Amino acid sequence: MTSPTYYKFAQPQLSEASIQAVADVLRSNWIATGPKVTELEQALSRTFGNRPTRLLTSATGAMEVALALCDIGEGDEVITSAQSFFSAMNMIVKCGAKPVFVDCDLQSRAIDLAQVEAAITPKTRAIMPTHFPGALGDMDVLYALAKKYQLRVIEDAALVQGSQWQGKSVGSFGDIATFSFHPNKNMTTIEGGAIVVNDEAEAQRVDVLRFHGIAKLPDQTRDVVEASGKFNMSDVSAVIGLHQLTQFDDFMAQRQVLAERYFTSFPVIPGIVLPPQGQPGQTWNMFCVLIPYENFGHTRNSFRAALHEAGIGTGVSYEACHLTTVGKGFGYAEGMFPNAERIARETVTLPLHVGLTVGDVDEICGVVKRVLLG
Ligand SMILES: Cc1ncc(COP(=O)(O)O)c(C=O)c1O
Repeated sequence: MTSPTYYKFAQPQLSEASIQAVADVLRSNWIATGPKVTELEQALSRTFGNRPTRLLTSATGAMEVALALCDIGEGDEVITSAQSFFSAMNMIVKCGAKPVFVDCDLQSRAIDLAQVEAAITPKTRAIMPTHFPGALGDMDVLYALAKKYQLRVIEDAALVQGSQWQGKSVGSFGDIATFSFHPNKNMTTIEGGAIVVNDEAEAQRVDVLRFHGIAKLPDQTRDVVEASGKFNMSDVSAVIGLHQLTQFDDFMAQRQVLAERYFTSFPVIPGIVLPPQGQPGQTWNMFCVLIPYENFGHTRNSFRAALHEAGIGTGVSYEACHLTTVGKGFGYAEGMFPNAERIARETVTLPLHVGLTVGDVDEICGVVKRVLLG
């Protein structure tokens, strides 16, 4: 039996207006890629310093397209963090390149830039860091490295739409950034993603890459200029995104209040690592803590089961990429990246979404304390 109020660890908030707008799009008979996609691309671009922005069906698809855009493939190496969702690793492998893992900071989970520099070889073509809520890595050092070694950067910004580096929002500076609009993210289009690129030439190549590699010929027939997949977003999804974007600032403000409440309400227990609280201009997609479960007579599974019983849903963000079957296939093994591995063992994602109140956070923190300390 679970309690009557169940706090999911993530949940989207869809306004009645957005539901009505979906019905309108469905009735318009233009339900695949159309004017709503263009409108959302333009609206998002304004939030990314007017840089060219294209919508795709997911962040994972956006990363696949980003790697193709950078002409990365067989024989190339891409440096990425061992601690991230699986998309970056998978897309690097899928395009034929080798994922070169490095460790991350234990608390901010930012990719370790000293290790990145040490991992650069003549085959290195790009760095793919993942940004986590709470604090970005040092973007100045990252881009100085990229410049020094002439590398592309593909920022996995799935979790940090709206976050800032020294007053500039992620996506508005740098090289390529990819975003996710999965229902767990800062805003949703059901499934969906975006890529922000440098100039119109790159954006036009994304247009080709996201739709079969098709280029239109002057005689109105079509050519396929490079074999590609199909990643175009529908207008049904885009209209949801347009409504979500009007609520985005309110969503982020609410998430901020909830994250701050976690910092004040979370029980002070030795050995537990909370996310970084300090850097200004961050958005809060997830609240992940590290807990040495065995110190409290638990495993992660028993801890999560106890929270579930008390009506609290949790997640695991994330397993270590280099210890997956795919990662091990490249020769990686336990012990190589201690921070990524400790995060993988100890992390638990607590509920954080705009449907929660500060009272809910207090209750969740109270249950965590009771489960750990009795
Ligand atoms: C850090 C990170 N990158 C990428 C993705 C992939 O996003 P999508 O589901 O839109 O492909 C996720 C999804 O959870 C993620 O957490």
